[in-house]
Amino acid sequence: MSLTPAFLDELRARTLLSGLIAKTTKLQKAGREFRACCPFHNERTPSFYVNDDKGFYHCFGCGAHGDAIRWMTDQRGLPFIDAVKELVAAAGMEMPEQDRRSAEKAERAKGLHEAMADAAKWFAERLGGIEGAEARAVLRKRGIAEETARSFGLGFAPDSRGKLKEALKSYGDAMLVEAGMLIQVEEKEPYDRFRGRLMIPIRDVRGRVIAFGGRIIGGGEPKYLNSPETPLFDKGRTLYNLDRAQAAARKTGRILAVEGYMDVIALAQAGFEEAVAPLGTALTEHQLERLWRMADVPLLCFDGDSAGQKAALRAAHRALPMLQPGRSLAFVTLPDGLDPDDLVRTRGGGAFEALLKAPQPLVDRLWQSEVAAEPLDTPEQRAGLKRRLATLAESIADANVKHEYLAEFRARADAHFGRGPRSFDARPQRGAPAPRGKRDRRGNWQPPEPPPSATARSLGAAGLDPILARAVLAGLIRHPAEIARHMEVLGSLRSASGALGKLFEAVIDVALEDRQLDSGKVLTILARSGFDSVASDLLRADTLPFSFTRNQADEAKARDDLNEAIAVMVAQPVVDAALAEATAALSRDGSEAAFTRQVALSRKRQELQARLANLMLADEDDFDD
Ligand code: UTP
Ligand code: MN
Repeated sequence: MSLTPAFLDELRARTLLSGLIAKTTKLQKAGREFRACCPFHNERTPSFYVNDDKGFYHCFGCGAHGDAIRWMTDQRGLPFIDAVKELVAAAGMEMPEQDRRSAEKAERAKGLHEAMADAAKWFAERLGGIEGAEARAVLRKRGIAEETARSFGLGFAPDSRGKLKEALKSYGDAMLVEAGMLIQVEEKEPYDRFRGRLMIPIRDVRGRVIAFGGRIIGGGEPKYLNSPETPLFDKGRTLYNLDRAQAAARKTGRILAVEGYMDVIALAQAGFEEAVAPLGTALTEHQLERLWRMADVPLLCFDGDSAGQKAALRAAHRALPMLQPGRSLAFVTLPDGLDPDDLVRTRGGGAFEALLKAPQPLVDRLWQSEVAAEPLDTPEQRAGLKRRLATLAESIADANVKHEYLAEFRARADAHFGRGPRSFDARPQRGAPAPRGKRDRRGNWQPPEPPPSATARSLGAAGLDPILARAVLAGLIRHPAEIARHMEVLGSLRSASGALGKLFEAVIDVALEDRQLDSGKVLTILARSGFDSVASDLLRADTLPFSFTRNQADEAKARDDLNEAIAVMVAQPVVDAALAEATAALSRDGSEAAFTRQVALSRKRQELQARLANLMLADEDDFDD
């Protein structure tokens, strides 16, 4: 879209606002202006003014205010671009060139979408018919139920150079070539691209078919043939099954990236609907971004073979510059050369679920691969490891995350070589504990169980996450019945920092006064205690991304979420304090015990962040571009 400010100014200047408004609203002349009863609110005496010189309308009653374009969007309810188009036509102007071109492009895309939808339908019919017998047998052998095949729109492309072309001839060869369904070599006759293949439609984020993956039936090369890049299909910017996985991820709070189409399909059949796959290429930055929009820590479930593991490491390196606080990757490695499809088929969904429960954090994966990369017998080799780790950490753009990685790699390296941190120059102190064999087979430290979490009572004043605390307060005011359930925990927050602590206290007092609370009463009582503006501010806090701070939320979900938020809010400062202590202890004595404790607590903190992220409402926009 390339409407320039100059173009819009020109459009406004060429539009007589009073004339436009007079089409639907009766105007009276009032000096240099026009006056009317406001079309935006109900009134008997006119307080709505139109000023042609300024090109603005304004209502002194309700504050409605705007120009000609605003009038079309707000009063006539048109989308912005349609509002502009209508005004442009009325003013005898032309839409800027580029927009005409993008309109043409949109028209053409519409044709392509229809062609792809028809192709998918045609392939699915072939799978169901006589020609599809062999493909159906393949699906049966792979354990794909008919219903699964139907829900993924699977189809069959007959082994012929002209059947699809004939079936879709109404679109014309040129469009089918552009859609990637026909191949045209120079000036020769175009022919069907997909022949004798099981067809897997690839959908965009809105569920429209934009491409196909075709698997050879039986043997042959290539195993998978994919659509080429087309105006609809940009391999690096989409993921197989994105539309459905996105919806499923909202429910489960996790997203899985696997290697192949058939993995996605088999997983969905086994009940894991939140899986996507790249389209025959390594994960791109764009695809990583998409994954992060669905969960803070996407799980990469790549095959256990060396190709799969290489792909996992490539994704790890690519993700590094893009890390953010709370945003990471974790890795699930499949055993014995199985892929997720093989695993759920031979060992069931439970086996896969068990793997998902213990993913390897990104930091471990990087550490593991660097430690394994070279021997570490000489000082030079050990220094080399440190330098490789530092280089990796340095590639992280976010300063805080980078800092954490540098510190963690340094601590791990020191512990690995049996020294306390910050003593690179010293020989191991006499009597210092040698690293004991608490490493697992990947060379990672196995952390002990995290310490028992302290009770709410021991919560100090510091450390409450202020945004979370605000959201919880807003939630409590909206759902006052929940206050009584958390009285004890909330009581311990009185001592929390400043105004928030006082407000928690006031909310508890209110609940003590009266157990039959509704939000209105809470507000009234808070107002009496001088908290009116803060409290109504909190009630308006619908910019906070939680179900319990919003109006339309499902009540049961809102309450569950609120409970979870309170649990996280209370646990966070305890873990943070323990982690600070453990980190200090680690830099004091560098013992393995301190190290394992520190690692366990960092992980605990990560978990809390993940739980918090799960509570945050995902934004709904479909990211289509
Ligand atoms: P795999 O070779 O791991 O296949 O390719 P798979 O998923 O296990 O397939 P089955 O179980 O043998 O049917 C993984 C992904 O790599 C891409 C495809 O996207 C495939 O899903 N690929 C593979 C290609 O694009 N072309 C190929 O020739 C092979
Ligand atoms: Mn497979």
